[in-house]
Amino acid sequence: MSKGTFYITTPIYYPSDKLHIGNAYSTVAADTAARYKRMRGYDVMFLTGTDEHGMKIEGKAKDAGVTPKEFVDNIVTGAGGIIDLWKLMNISYDRFIRTTDDYHEAAIQRIFKELYDRGAIYKGAYKGHYCTPCESFWTETQLVDGKCPDCGREVKYAEEEAYFFKLSEYTDKIIKLYEEQPEFLEPKSRMNEMMNNFLKPGLDDLCVSRTTFTWGVPVDFDPGHVVYVWVDALFNYMTALGYQNDKYADLEKFWPCDAHFVGKDIVRFHAIIWPAMLMALDLPLPKKVFGHGWLLIGGGKMSKSKGNIVDPTILAPRYGVDALRYFLLREFPFGSDGDFTNELLINRINTDLANDLGNLVSRTVAMAIKYFDGKLPTEREVGDNDAELVSLASALPELYESHMERHAFQSALTEVFRLSSRANKYIDETAPWSLAKDETKRARLATVLYNLLEAIRVSAVLLSPVMPESAEKIFTQIGADGDARTWDSVLSFGALAPDVAVAKGDTLFPRINAEKELAALTGDN
Ligand code: MSP
Repeated sequence: MSKGTFYITTPIYYPSDKLHIGNAYSTVAADTAARYKRMRGYDVMFLTGTDEHGMKIEGKAKDAGVTPKEFVDNIVTGAGGIIDLWKLMNISYDRFIRTTDDYHEAAIQRIFKELYDRGAIYKGAYKGHYCTPCESFWTETQLVDGKCPDCGREVKYAEEEAYFFKLSEYTDKIIKLYEEQPEFLEPKSRMNEMMNNFLKPGLDDLCVSRTTFTWGVPVDFDPGHVVYVWVDALFNYMTALGYQNDKYADLEKFWPCDAHFVGKDIVRFHAIIWPAMLMALDLPLPKKVFGHGWLLIGGGKMSKSKGNIVDPTILAPRYGVDALRYFLLREFPFGSDGDFTNELLINRINTDLANDLGNLVSRTVAMAIKYFDGKLPTEREVGDNDAELVSLASALPELYESHMERHAFQSALTEVFRLSSRANKYIDETAPWSLAKDETKRARLATVLYNLLEAIRVSAVLLSPVMPESAEKIFTQIGADGDARTWDSVLSFGALAPDVAVAKGDTLFPRINAEKELAALTGDN
């Protein structure tokens, strides 16, 4: 029986360039949260997609000498495009929305009209500066040294007839929302940022239509205007469920959204503009916006112009998708920035995955094969060192749950690896190779190996949302069948059959020769 519903989203990506590891970060995290909730018995809707309109895309298509639609089709569905990247990264999305989908475009026209009819949008004149890469409007006073305050790039002056959303009416309402529902925006630091930078100074009305380009959703009641790309984009979270369209009918089931995962640069859109527009339409607000940190290079942004883009399509085939997914979530706290280096990646793989977990699995399985031909006898003999291992494994699910529910992936993974380390130590303490020399110690030897297999099994279940393929391989090697792979099965130690049979498998995480790899990667990137 379903425990309830869980709706999680990633940002929808601009298909303007190949995506990099930073873009994959949100999606891997959301995928992990979605898999975790499925494992817990929730009916999950995991949405991702692409944000295909706007001046930036129009300009890129023009440079490439193709139509905007041809341009985005190639980046979204073409070979090596965004959909292929999500396949490579093993992203288990339930729905993929493209803002050029007919049903979405028609819904956006209805939404814009509805906002206008309700008096939330009015027609005026825009005088200000536009940052095309950020698709953001700025006033003279907001600019920093005449440049975009968000990305530091050149802005373009624009003077045009335009529609405005009465965002200025929502300052107090958003402050009240933060006060009454502090979990609406996490981590806490993002809320402080929104308060200090935007809410305390007071919100300005927001320009929500453009007339200087055409690649967008046309305002049907005023030809020449296209809907501002962020209005078009934010509503994807609802149109993909069937809001203002009849392509889908999942709104009642999944709205309001449980968690929007977004990068820190787009928190303002999700935690101020989005709830304000929903309030204007009397719609329920999402339960949470989580503004995660950025992956940086040498403390700065990764960008094509700097030539320091980290490409997941190079790293994933080289080290395994699971290793890369694990690294992204284990190395940095989800709410903070993290400095990416190839050294960190390789060290993390070697230390945690090859030495700790991989070694534990291969040693345990090898010993079960060597001492018992792969099938444990059922006699048992408890020993001094068992209690600590068993109690660590038994306490782990609750601890892990408390971190996962807060999207604290790093802490959850750290806890799981405490168990692998403890299990490796348990091997040294119990010295199975000595027990194996003594015929009277067979029951004790079987107990030690069983406890080890159980510790591995519990770890694999809890790691499965992050490393789904590796967890499967581990289950096969340690003889864990379907029932021993579930969340419920880790709540009590001892789900493996007493006479469990193991099977030797390939090395799970081959050790990487750091020096050689670093040299090769420098050449590749
Ligand atoms: N199209 C908008 C989102 C609309 S959502 C209604 C957009 N797209 S984007 O392609 O520019 O960025 C998508 C996501 O990638 C954002 O959450 C952004 O923060 C994230 N990242 C881009 N570079 C990143 C890193 N270096 N590290 C982590 N996340 C990064 O914004």
